[in-house]
Amino acid sequence: MNQQTGLNKILSTPVQLGDLKLKNRFIQAPLTRLRSDLDTGLANDLMNTYYSQRTSFGLQITETVMTHQMKGYFPYLTNEQQSQQWKKIVDSVHEQGGLICLQISHGGRTNISSMGSPPVSPSPIKINGKNKFTNNECYETPKELNIEQIKQIVNDFQQSAILAKQSGFDAIQLHAANGFLVDQFLRESSNLRTDEYGGSIPNRCRFCLEIIDVLISVFGSGRVSIRFSPVGRYNQMYDSDPLALMKYIFIELEKRNLSFVELRRFGKFDLSAPVEEGQAHPELQIPNFFQTLRQYYSGNIVANDGITIKEAESLVNDKTAEAISFGKLSISNPDLPIRYDYDQEINNMADHHTFYSQGPQGYIDYPKYDRL
Ligand SMILES: Cc1cc2nc3c(=O)[nH]c(=O)nc-3n(C[C@H](O)[C@H](O)[C@H](O)COP(=O)(O)O)c2cc1C
Repeated sequence: MNQQTGLNKILSTPVQLGDLKLKNRFIQAPLTRLRSDLDTGLANDLMNTYYSQRTSFGLQITETVMTHQMKGYFPYLTNEQQSQQWKKIVDSVHEQGGLICLQISHGGRTNISSMGSPPVSPSPIKINGKNKFTNNECYETPKELNIEQIKQIVNDFQQSAILAKQSGFDAIQLHAANGFLVDQFLRESSNLRTDEYGGSIPNRCRFCLEIIDVLISVFGSGRVSIRFSPVGRYNQMYDSDPLALMKYIFIELEKRNLSFVELRRFGKFDLSAPVEEGQAHPELQIPNFFQTLRQYYSGNIVANDGITIKEAESLVNDKTAEAISFGKLSISNPDLPIRYDYDQEINNMADHHTFYSQGPQGYIDYPKYDRL
């Protein structure tokens, strides 16, 4: 389906995001694909092919990479060898004129002990259910982190950032979305602490901002980004006042002058979708999600989730967002920006069966548009 609106190819215009000069407004969203080496967490040649196919995007954000061991699941960046393997990918992307940002994360209570890192969280509240990525193992009750352990994790983020810098990444993004550890500190449902890391909004934001500051110390503020999903429910997250949380953290982030903030909307206008008892519908918590949040943040915004080319053009045109990140569309269209430029069909059929499978199928075999 061709989705052009005639807005003069606005998504093909370059944009400056902090220290990053993007050749267009298309960003490859962070996408876990589980193709790294299962035992060692090492990035490999298959991943190199996948990322090298997508260098027409103005910026590529990697799949999430953990600061701690996660055998058989996510890649992790804790040693020189892993850094060297990523360097090969970064070098290939650069050779083709691309820019690449590492998304860095800690799983917190989503961790599974058998994979090398036990679950930890601001409070001992477990996720009900099973982890579909890890042989359906049940989530465990996480250990409540003490202050010393919190400081250690902040330090781990710094060490992984140093390794990412050695790999040559152009930027680093803190994963503060989707119910991973940073998000677990931010939102009420997983943070019942009464010390300086819980309770008030400034306290719940403290851990996140401490990590942002160490990332800035390694990359410089113009090469640091953060991703939020303030109304998202994934991993059983909830906050009763996400707008207040965002207003506060935006004030703190504006002081730091980051490259960009990426906002995941989660659930688009689906008011009929069921919600947990006692919870407000995500769409009603922050109505007109991007337009509302734009009012509270003067830095660069990257919008994400369910965004069509048509909506992307309109968000950029009315300056609600500086750029758009595409998840599933960047899986099924390795050359999405080129297709847009040449008015070619866009493939809306990313095959979800191969999102988290192994091997090349559904990973590096989506065709590119052939201009000849
Ligand atoms: C296969 C898959 C893997 C994902 N992995 C990550 C991830 O590692 N980090 C992250 O922040 N979001 C992740 N997401 C969420 C996407 O970045 C994006 O927010 C979501 O797909 C909605 O955007 P879209 O409608 O353009 O696909 C993933 C989504 C999919 C479909």
